[in-house]
Amino acid sequence: MTRAERAFAVGFCGGSGIAYGLRFVSVLLEAGHRVHLTATNASLRVIRHEAGIEIDLAKPDLAALFPAALRQKLATHDLVAVEAAPSSGSAKIEATVLIPCSMGTLARIAHGFSSNLVERMADVAIKEGRPLLVVPRETPLSVIHLENMLKLARAGAILLPAMPGFYTRPETVQEMVDFVVGKALDRLGIEHALFRRWSTPTVEPRVGSVSPWNEGEDCP
Ligand SMILES: Cc1cc2nc3c(=O)[nH]c(=O)nc-3n(C[C@H](O)[C@H](O)[C@H](O)COP(=O)(O)O)c2cc1C
Repeated sequence: MTRAERAFAVGFCGGSGIAYGLRFVSVLLEAGHRVHLTATNASLRVIRHEAGIEIDLAKPDLAALFPAALRQKLATHDLVAVEAAPSSGSAKIEATVLIPCSMGTLARIAHGFSSNLVERMADVAIKEGRPLLVVPRETPLSVIHLENMLKLARAGAILLPAMPGFYTRPETVQEMVDFVVGKALDRLGIEHALFRRWSTPTVEPRVGSVSPWNEGEDCP
């Protein structure tokens, strides 16, 4: 591993919003980071439904989800491969990210299950005191969901719900996806330009103005 290279473990789970996961991994790979990727069976179905990608449910080719030019630093792992590198606390993984995260996986992690590689990766991150970033997606949230999230937050996980902000006035779904992905990258200290950052407005918002940013102002 080169000095600048950082390694991340990423799990796709069966929550809605696989676009967040696909974009997140692409940005990490574009930035030259190493990614260990695994996906739950439910997430493969979500990929089919939401992304319209014909993925083989029995033998999924996760690498094929990304352009060939980006695959060099991508290691994909079977969900059952609990012998894969990110399953061990001794592997050099900087942070583990579940994006999107279903309520099912979230519940199992909160209760210490390690019944597949995604859950084990999360369990390892918690026990090793490494960042575990969870991007849950469900609405409305039940008391059970909320209690599980609180349990995880108390164990040190970062709960970053898939809640795009609207103050950037997104015009496309991609911009909304990038907002959430950008917030996840921020939390991991990874530079990006996926959204413009807020700065103090110097004029009152006007009805019909094209953007909330002050004219001519380039946000830092
Ligand atoms: C298209 C689609 C969207 C779904 N969206 C959600 C969701 O937003 N949140 C959630 O918790 N489950 C959602 N589910 C249900 C989960 O996929 C299901 O509970 C599954 O068992 C979770 O498995 P996993 O935790 O192993 O990924 C969705 C399922 C499908 C097919």
